[in-house]
Amino acid sequence: MDKELSEKGLLRLQWAEAHMHVLRSIRERMKKERPLEGVRIGMALHTEAKTGMLAITLKDAGAEIRLASCNPLSTDDSVALALRKNYGLEVYAKKGETQEEYYENLNKVIDFHPDFVIDDGADLIVELHSRRRDALGNVKGANEETTTGVMRLRSMAEGGRLEFPVMAVNDAKMKFLFDNRYGTGQSALDGWMTATNLLIAGKRVVVAGYGWCGKGVASRAKGMGASVIVTEVDPIRAIEAKMDGFEVMPMAEAVKAADIVFTVTGCKDIVGPEHIALMKDGCVLGNSGHFDNEIDRRYLEEVAVSRRKVRDAVTEYLLGDGRKIYLIAEGRLMNLAAGQGHPVEIMDMSFAIQALCTEHLVKNHTSMLNGVHPVPKEIDEMVARLKLQSMGVSIDKLTEEQRRYLEGWEQGT
Ligand code: ADE
Repeated sequence: MDKELSEKGLLRLQWAEAHMHVLRSIRERMKKERPLEGVRIGMALHTEAKTGMLAITLKDAGAEIRLASCNPLSTDDSVALALRKNYGLEVYAKKGETQEEYYENLNKVIDFHPDFVIDDGADLIVELHSRRRDALGNVKGANEETTTGVMRLRSMAEGGRLEFPVMAVNDAKMKFLFDNRYGTGQSALDGWMTATNLLIAGKRVVVAGYGWCGKGVASRAKGMGASVIVTEVDPIRAIEAKMDGFEVMPMAEAVKAADIVFTVTGCKDIVGPEHIALMKDGCVLGNSGHFDNEIDRRYLEEVAVSRRKVRDAVTEYLLGDGRKIYLIAEGRLMNLAAGQGHPVEIMDMSFAIQALCTEHLVKNHTSMLNGVHPVPKEIDEMVARLKLQSMGVSIDKLTEEQRRYLEGWEQGT
């Protein structure tokens, strides 16, 4: 059974490897140069095949690795096993961790006393700055993968509470323009469709949040034939949504007609009791935000007269008035809890940035102040050029004269 599972995980890793051209070329270079020789890296990332390829890349670059998941539901057990058995990696993660097990596993990464940390959502970094200050002094720097994590860390830094430099991987153009938009756009719908086996076409879909992730989900849902309503609190994003062709209105109006509600805000309390009261029978709720606090699951648990699992990742709540409301993957991010995470080619770019930022941190941490740092433009551009190359796309170059024209200020002819 273990053998079958690890073989499945190995195949998944090999499939990811075959489609991660950018990361593969970085790995080939790092294997020769060994820029991370002897460095201990503690990782808290969604433990699935693409993440596995990042861990293998860092190991081949000379690092010692310990990996836990950054979400109790997102681990691919076959991959976790294959990483242990076939690559000798220390992995502390399983699908369906309790909250206690989740923190136990994060703490196993901390027990390793990492020199550098790679986090997704900042739980590991927050744990180091609160309950595990004993291991904080050893950490020289970190990378943060996601919007929510970068927001938390900026807030720590503003309060003078962040005690090492962190690279905001999320904010690299080659990350958020693709991972957040096209990655979340595809994987949120993948998770929803795998969980439900229901149709998107012809449905009224409410997308809460029109950041890069919300933009991706709204555009993919529209592309599949849904009528999409966007809800927002930011007036500029609301106009963007309107001019992209979506209806825009407050949640309390939008939910009345909704067949499907997707939350993608990174904020809490997006779908609460007042909205659930207005929903149609059969409405299906799914979250793609990092944390499970966007949809009020606790309220559904409290008011439902009964609840039952109707599919692997769908819970049905029967309300007192006879309506049934469905929730995907307990309100945890459905991309990974019910689907397979972002497409491989997308994570190729995100994790190429992660690998290069790790190398950058190891080389430069002594001159970096505690706080949140942008990803250097050269890293973004290197990943873009490698990606274009892997796609077989070539582009034009500025002539010397054009470059001078763009850099000058006199009127040109
Ligand atoms: N796979 C690994 N990390 C991921 C992430 N942050 N989002 C989606 N899929 C992923």
